[in-house]
Amino acid sequence: MSRDLEGTVALVTGATSGIGRAVAVTLASYGAAVAVVGRRSDRLDELAAEIGERCLVLPADLRDPVAATGAVSATVERFGRLDTVVNNAGRMLNGPTLEATLEEWETMVDLNLKALMYVTKAALPHLVDAAATGPRRVADLVNISSIAGRFANRNVAIYNATKFGVTAASESWRQEFAPHHVRVSVIEPGVVETELFGHQQQPVQEHYERLFADVEPLLPSDIADVIAFVVRAPRRMGVAEVVVRPTTQA
Ligand SMILES: NC(=O)c1ccc[n+]([C@@H]2O[C@H](COP(=O)([O-])OP(=O)(O)OC[C@H]3O[C@@H](n4cnc5c(N)ncnc54)[C@H](OP(=O)(O)O)[C@@H]3O)[C@@H](O)[C@H]2O)c1
Repeated sequence: MSRDLEGTVALVTGATSGIGRAVAVTLASYGAAVAVVGRRSDRLDELAAEIGERCLVLPADLRDPVAATGAVSATVERFGRLDTVVNNAGRMLNGPTLEATLEEWETMVDLNLKALMYVTKAALPHLVDAAATGPRRVADLVNISSIAGRFANRNVAIYNATKFGVTAASESWRQEFAPHHVRVSVIEPGVVETELFGHQQQPVQEHYERLFADVEPLLPSDIADVIAFVVRAPRRMGVAEVVVRPTTQA
């Protein structure tokens, strides 16, 4: 495997499971040093054992702006730079509005949107610097949205709202930071086999099991491969947006 991310540093949020874990392993396999963030520190330690010494474990609840900003500064302190940020941490807590709780809605707004905002604000000056001074002369901010960030559905109101927000902010940042050679990309997956669906209320989980019974889901490594393609693209080539669904998902 080529080592064309050698010498670069990546920060991956939500790396304790699913897509984020696969992204950390994949970027490390191309040579990047990776800082990995999530709340379950035992999972982060396991991941670091798999990746090796070029992995920095940063247990944090990113809903706390101090912790989110601290994860960025700890990465730069340890590795001296920051070339790639993958804003992946997220929760999906769908269901009929009359049965949903405000706590579920607040969790999604606080994590999917506000935590992404905290990490991005802290990271952008370092990404601008990496693009100006680094060997590749380009840096990447990759935001994980969802097809729920392009199409609204009933019973998905606040998850839709957060992911539409991620998609919109990504396009705005893309335009703003293009002159700096900081590429901003938004990834919009369909169904991926992860822990995401399992945090919802039981009847909602059962609804999705029925809805996707005939769909072979994507694997986290499929999304990690897409992100590796985005980040490893030549300096002249910015992949602004990727929609990727299971083949049989309508
Ligand atoms: N799976 C899908 O079908 C799908 C489709 C489209 C988009 N997505 C998006 O993909 C992203 C990753 O989700 P996934 O499918 O890989 O689900 P997952 O396996 O549940 O992973 C979610 C990650 O977010 C982290 N996280 C949750 N709350 C956090 C907090 N307060 N602070 C820091 N980290 C936190 C979790 O770690 P801890 O719990 O250890 O903190 C975990 O590492 C999400 O943004 C999701 O919306 C997923």
